[in-house]
Amino acid sequence: MTERIVRAVAARKVFRLPDGGRFSAVDGVSLDIEESATVALTGSSGAGKSTLLHLFGALERLDGGTIEVAGHDVGNLSRRGLAAYRRSVGFVFQRFHLLSALTAVDNVAAPVLPFRTGYDPRARARELLELVGLADRADALPSRLSGGQQQRVAIARALINRPRLLLADEPTGNLDSRTSASIMDLLLRLRDECHTTVVIATHDPIIAARCDVVHRLCDGQLERAEPPSPS
Ligand SMILES: Nc1ncnc2c1ncn2[C@@H]1O[C@H](COP(=O)(O)OP(=O)(O)OP(=O)(O)O)[C@@H](O)[C@H]1O
Ligand SMILES: [Mg+2]
Repeated sequence: MTERIVRAVAARKVFRLPDGGRFSAVDGVSLDIEESATVALTGSSGAGKSTLLHLFGALERLDGGTIEVAGHDVGNLSRRGLAAYRRSVGFVFQRFHLLSALTAVDNVAAPVLPFRTGYDPRARARELLELVGLADRADALPSRLSGGQQQRVAIARALINRPRLLLADEPTGNLDSRTSASIMDLLLRLRDECHTTVVIATHDPIIAARCDVVHRLCDGQLERAEPPSPS
């Protein structure tokens, strides 16, 4: 039986506007995500996709409702718990956010280098680069990598802590359609081989169609949840 990894109940994020007003970017979202599922968050620009991903990753503070991830009450973590929780979740950004002075392998290892890990971070980083098909580019600087290769490095970096949950914000937004498809192949392979739950914010209907579940946001609210596709 599949387990639930995420449960959001009436989750809300309120931003203050410059005129002093308030605005709910995520406005009472309730949803469950099953472990090892691939889930697309779609919706037009400003619908609240990134904000919801940030709430799942505890990168933003929750202003109402609850979000539970793998048993963690994300809205009520202590400062220490928050830091540990953030390290336990993988986050992939649209613009890769690689450190330009570091090689691919050092970018992948960077999140754990300050910590005692019990393993060799660079050895694990090389394994991850192999997983994403970049073993031969491990010592290259980001400036020597294509956009798709940089995104693979960013995905490998997001996996360094063996996250059960990988949150990807428009991971193919800056890539051509062929490279997008190969990044999506990789994300689906992670689901199959590592049982990682993958939540992807995307505008791309082709990417969304390859996910198990599609949630559509409109003005911070969930429009509908489509049932898993038969494939
Ligand atoms: N830090 C912030 N302060 C104020 N308003 C914000 C902040 N971050 C986001 N918003 C607003 O919240 C709404 C939702 O933003 P969000 O970035 O979640 O949308 P999105 O669905 O990811 O859009 P896109 O597809 O363009 O990335 C938008 O109206 C945005 O302007
Ligand atoms: Mg966004």
